[in-house]
This record gives sequence, structure tokens and C-alpha cells, in this order.
Amino acid sequence: MTPRTPQKSVSVVLPVGGGKGGIGKSVLTANLGLALARLEHRVIVIDADLGGSDLHNLLGQDNERPGLGEVLTGQAADVRQVVHPILEPRFSFVPGDALVVATANPSFQKKRKLLHRIKALEADFVLLDLGAGTAITVMDFFLTSPVSLLVMLPERPAVLSAFNFLKNAVFRALNRIFRGNAKTGAVLASYQERSRGPGAMKMADLLAALDKAASGEGSRAKRAVERWRPKLVLNRVRLMDDFVYAHQLERWARDDLGLLIEVAAFLPEDEVVREAGAQNLPALDLDPRAPFCRAVALLALSLGKWAGRPLELAQHRDFEGSFERAATEYAPLFPPPGTAIPTRDELLKRLKMLQAKLRE
Ligand SMILES: Nc1ncnc2c1ncn2[C@@H]1O[C@H](COP(=O)(O)OP(=O)(O)O)[C@@H](O)[C@H]1O
Ligand SMILES: [Mg+2]
Repeated sequence: MTPRTPQKSVSVVLPVGGGKGGIGKSVLTANLGLALARLEHRVIVIDADLGGSDLHNLLGQDNERPGLGEVLTGQAADVRQVVHPILEPRFSFVPGDALVVATANPSFQKKRKLLHRIKALEADFVLLDLGAGTAITVMDFFLTSPVSLLVMLPERPAVLSAFNFLKNAVFRALNRIFRGNAKTGAVLASYQERSRGPGAMKMADLLAALDKAASGEGSRAKRAVERWRPKLVLNRVRLMDDFVYAHQLERWARDDLGLLIEVAAFLPEDEVVREAGAQNLPALDLDPRAPFCRAVALLALSLGKWAGRPLELAQHRDFEGSFERAATEYAPLFPPPGTAIPTRDELLKRLKMLQAKLRE
């Protein structure tokens, strides 16, 4: 019998993004990373917020070790040299550019090399904490994995900005696919110029226009868009009624962008986050029983299933029917004051009512 060659393990890269600053991307990256490490996965968290690096604070680390700034300016030859073990046996941290300020928009070649090296890191999970905005570098980091995490607050304007963030990402992905093709490039540009909000365009029309410009290109674009399945994390949720904003983004993304996003988690608004920040600790270390920490642990458990497996479309089934699944899974963390936790049926009925209201 020939011995089986051990398969090289693959790391699951989880970029954490969202159109805005101050929505909890870094708080989520720090605590989710730690939670995954405590489930015995090998985890590397990377501060990829170039120009705004602050993840070290949330992990209780001093700002004194080299990171991506050194890699991008050539002072460190490889990202592997700036992986620092911290806090837990399987947990490591790559600082950003707080010591050596790298450009927030490195050249495509530099970025591509860096992302390639990041994907080759020895880990089960690599989390990338991204900066705010929709700059091309943020988009390229966000698009580097089929399972990016999109953080959003439960507010009406936040849904719009999350939608626009996704739309920018889709156009960045398509522009990269059709780079150098004048015909399809012109079609993309004309659609991209249309107003940004939901209802301004339908992906089906764009795909048909691409097919018309160059036969088969619409289908190629469709396959690329469908392979990408960002997961939504709604943060600072106060009431179960807030869940409905997740559903709204899910619909807009599907109807206008042809994009299937899935709801990964509802994280509660929780004083523990601010208190932990004040004490320079991860929230998970201040009070693991706090609702925010329990929600992060639930998310780590569901993502943990992907450790060591190459990501395939089929695995997204773990999240199928995600809105209903997440709503019922996370509901016990949000009991309405003075009432019992609703049954699944009661909860879904309530959410249907809210959805109808949003459409009015
Ligand atoms: N679930 C939460 N409950 C309470 N405060 C939160 C929560 N999530 C984030 N915050 C607060 O929001 C602020 C911004 O969080 P941060 O992770 O730095 O945002 P970003 O990385 O998106 O800019 C922090 O001061 C943090 O304490
Ligand atoms: Mg941040």
C-alpha cells in the first residue's frame, strides 16, 4: 500500500469589511480570531487597515512590532516575518502600518504578491481587518476570498452604504475580469456610472449587455458573481426588530446585484465592548459570558466547520436559508424586555410584518 501524502492544509481567508468606519470591523476581527483560536484552530489576524491601524489596541498589544507597513515598504522580505504569536498557543497577529506608514494604495503587483503570500500562511483561518471606504485596495482585499464578512449596523442609511459597498466590490471584480477588453469595458463603465442606490440597475441587464458586446462574457461574469458569497454580520443590534435590516440588504443584493449574501451573525450592542476597549483587552477576555461574546462564539462555531477544507460552493449550504436560521439561532441573545423568548414561528411572523413595513 502506498502511503497517502498528507494534503497541504488550506487556510480560510476571512476579510472583514463594510463601507463605513466605526461599525465594529476591528472589534469583530479581534474577538472572532480569538474565539476561533480557543476552539483550537490555528488563527492569524492581520491589521490590513492601512493608514488606520489600531487592531493591536483591541488585542491588548503594544504598538512596537513590525507589520504590513514593513512588508509593503520592503523593510521585511515576507509577511511570514511579521507574524507574531500572541495571547494563545494557536493565535498570531500581523500588525498594520502604525510604525512604518505604507501607502494606503499599493501597486496592483505589490498587492497581488502580498495577498498570495497571505493565502499561503500556515493557518486554519486568516482574518483581515480592513479599513473604511471603497478604495480599490480595500475592495481587492475584500474580494480575495469567497467568504468575506460584511459588517453593517442596523440603521437605514447603513443598509444603503453596505449595498453600495457590495456594488463597488462587484464592479471591481468584473473590471478585473474584463481588463483590457474595450467592448465589455465600455459596457461596465456605462452601468457603473448609473446612480449607486438600489433599483438603479439590474445585474441581469448588465449581463445581457455584456453578452451582446462579446458572446459568452455575460455568462463568465455571472459565474464570477455567483462564486462570491459574502456573509453579513449585523453588529450593535439592540432589538430583534433590528434583524430586518439584514433581510433588506439580502434582498437588495439578490435583486439588483444577483449576489447571494448570507446572514452569518447578529451581534448585540453590549457595554462589554466599550469597557474592554477602555481596559485594552479583547471583550472575550473581560467577560466571555456577555451577550456580545456569546454571539461571537456562536459565529466562531459555525465558521469553524470550514477549517482545513478548500472552500467550495457547496459549503455555503451551511448558511442556506440564512436569515431565518440566524434569526432563530441568535434570538435568545435578544429577549425583548419583560417577555419570554419568542418561538420560531412568532419570530418569523414578527419579522414578516417588519419587512412589509420597510417595503411600504
Ligand atoms: N457590539 C458593540 N457594542 C457596543 N459597542 C460597540 C460594538 N461594536 C463596536 N462598538 C464600538 O464601536 C467603536 C468602533 O469599533 P471598531 O471595531 O473600531 O470599528 P471599525 O473597525 O469598523 O472602524 C468602538 O469604540 C467600539 O467600542
Ligand atoms: Mg477598524
